[in-house]
Amino acid sequence: MTSHEDRSMIVITGATGNIGRSLVGRLLAEGAAVRALTRDPARAALPAGAETVGADLTGTDDLTPLLAGADALFLNLAAGGERAAAAVLDAAAGAGVRRVVLNSSMAVSDTPDDDAHFISRMHAGLERAVRASGLEWTCVRGGNYATNALAWAPSIRGTGVVREAHPGAQGAPVHEADLADVAAVALLDRSGAHLGKAYAVTGPEQMTLARQIAEIGWATGKDIRVEQISEDEAAEAMSGGFLTKEDALELVRMFGQTVDAPLFPVSDTVERLTGRPGRTFARWARDHAADFS
Ligand SMILES: NC(=O)c1ccc[n+]([C@@H]2O[C@H](COP(=O)([O-])OP(=O)(O)OC[C@H]3O[C@@H](n4cnc5c(N)ncnc54)[C@H](OP(=O)(O)O)[C@@H]3O)[C@@H](O)[C@H]2O)c1
Repeated sequence: MTSHEDRSMIVITGATGNIGRSLVGRLLAEGAAVRALTRDPARAALPAGAETVGADLTGTDDLTPLLAGADALFLNLAAGGERAAAAVLDAAAGAGVRRVVLNSSMAVSDTPDDDAHFISRMHAGLERAVRASGLEWTCVRGGNYATNALAWAPSIRGTGVVREAHPGAQGAPVHEADLADVAAVALLDRSGAHLGKAYAVTGPEQMTLARQIAEIGWATGKDIRVEQISEDEAAEAMSGGFLTKEDALELVRMFGQTVDAPLFPVSDTVERLTGRPGRTFARWARDHAADFS
């Protein structure tokens, strides 16, 4: 562990989230100083070693104090949305932060197609802002998150039935701890090897949604049945909050296309950057068995 005096502060947005919580733990284990942002420090239950700071990033006029004295920033769109993320980035540049690691998406292709879909559009927009910020940057472009499976938790706990429009949809679900480990490497690196890089990050193996559900069954000892529903029913169930029914339907149709062939190939980023293979979905299901029980 480095001494307190020469440690550099890393600010984490979305610190209580799937990636954020794992990243806080990883950075503390590496001896870094961490400022963890959350709307509610009293409920955050973050490690005592982190400086936990309360802030609603959508409702705070001056974000600069949150970045004061920081060397690096982990920026997650999930922490307040696009405008909040852009404001945090501006504040970071103003506060003299040196480096930003952006939690982006594999949906970004660096082609005009990025404008065609709301997911690629919002992540590509933020990537452009990051590149233009003048800060050192790395983008972590995650594919399908394993945590998307948490959407099944209420029905697995309640009825033991998962309703999906495309149980045969394929993807390579990535464990949040692997996304956090990749982000940590980029945040802590002193060689410059990861600057100006956009890394595609997937899990280690392609599998169908039906197989993911089976893995959760094996991890929990539960007998889970899969019921196929229409795209419209799936979009209806998925919509709400920030996701309109129209956007949800677009997503469901996109998943449908992966029944024939996965959208993204498996990437070797986790192994290349961390030196060990990515965590399997079976491992993820074991790590999250309590969420489904
Ligand atoms: N799902 C996928 O397959 C996928 C694929 C590629 C990329 N992504 C990207 O990954 C993101 C999700 O990352 P994640 O799973 O780590 O997120 P998450 O678990 O949803 O965490 C988001 C955190 O943000 C904080 N937050 C929410 N609103 C806030 C606000 N107004 N001000 C400050 N903090 C706020 C919340 O913490 P508090 O409640 O403590 O404030 C929450 O814990 C997506 O938004 C997307 O950009 C997702």
